[in-house]
Amino acid sequence: MGLETSCDETSVAVVEDGSTILSNVIASQIDLHALTGGVVPEVASREHVEQVNAVIQQALDTAGITFGDLQAIAVANRPGLMGALMVGVSAAKALSYALNIPLIGVHHIEAHIYANFLTNPAIEFPLVCLVASGGHTQIFLMRGHGDYTLLGRTLDDAAGEAFDKSARLLNLGYPGGSVIDRLAKTGNPAAVKLPRARMGQVSLDFSFSGLKTAVQNASAIGLADYSVEDWAASVQQAIVDVLVEKTIRAAVSNNVRTVLAAGGVAANSCLQTVLRAACQENGCSFFVPPAVLCTDNAAMIACAGFHHILAGHEDGLDLDIIATEPLA
Ligand code: KG4
Ligand code: ZN
Repeated sequence: MGLETSCDETSVAVVEDGSTILSNVIASQIDLHALTGGVVPEVASREHVEQVNAVIQQALDTAGITFGDLQAIAVANRPGLMGALMVGVSAAKALSYALNIPLIGVHHIEAHIYANFLTNPAIEFPLVCLVASGGHTQIFLMRGHGDYTLLGRTLDDAAGEAFDKSARLLNLGYPGGSVIDRLAKTGNPAAVKLPRARMGQVSLDFSFSGLKTAVQNASAIGLADYSVEDWAASVQQAIVDVLVEKTIRAAVSNNVRTVLAAGGVAANSCLQTVLRAACQENGCSFFVPPAVLCTDNAAMIACAGFHHILAGHEDGLDLDIIATEPLA
């Protein structure tokens, strides 16, 4: 069983052998946080407390199993909102203790990457993985399971943050990423001139704060000059261009032939299309999980936990929660 409560989704999954999803229940708090235009940590924690037991039961029911069938419990214990993480970790410890089965603390970003192994267990190393979510934007080199070298990272905003904050500035709605994805399908990506921060010829780091400022400045004087579809398509293209350029550069400069995308932003249809084409051009295989496994879910936590068990890792009931911890 996997549990995920690091931010605004209470999710519990049952996964067999690291790749067969028997259930993946996701209780989203989006409607609650739409009222404030973003996640209020205390509100998120309370909602996790309200939901967690029912979601666990639903995950068992959907999988058609009982508590006694579980063989291990994996839980996201880092990084994330402290109060939110605490709910999942407390529930996982109780289950591990009561059922006398192993407990494994999982890094949330590692689990996003492992969503790829859920659907494609035979992916070969070495590989390069772009992880782009609401709080993180990083490129990792993986030479094997659990082996991460950080190649690049955002120096300011995450890609998902760039989507969400731009959507907010443009009054497009919440959460911004999926709204922009939808609107952009009929927009002109070249309509609004927006900057791409390339950070020189070789850097694999990102910066999205300039884009946010550009959207703020341009929309302050010319919001009505373009359709919402053109705004959405222009913002999306500015983000996708740099994500793809740097991911391909990372693969080519490290002589890697396998590229993965992970995290909520990997659900973006334009990113998937452009990155897939760029991979093909450069002789790389490209993998991305289905959209529901790109955004926060517990099946990815269970899959990462499964690989930790294979590697002989297990935690004790003193497992801690950690607000910030880099994966590498
Ligand atoms: O991985 P995730 O569910 O949560 C975090 O770990 O942060 O990622 C959420 C982020 C949000 O910023 C959301 O706007 C973005 O992923 N997102 C998308 C799409 N779906 C979710 N961004 C672009 N296009 C999408 N279709
Ligand atoms: Zn996430």
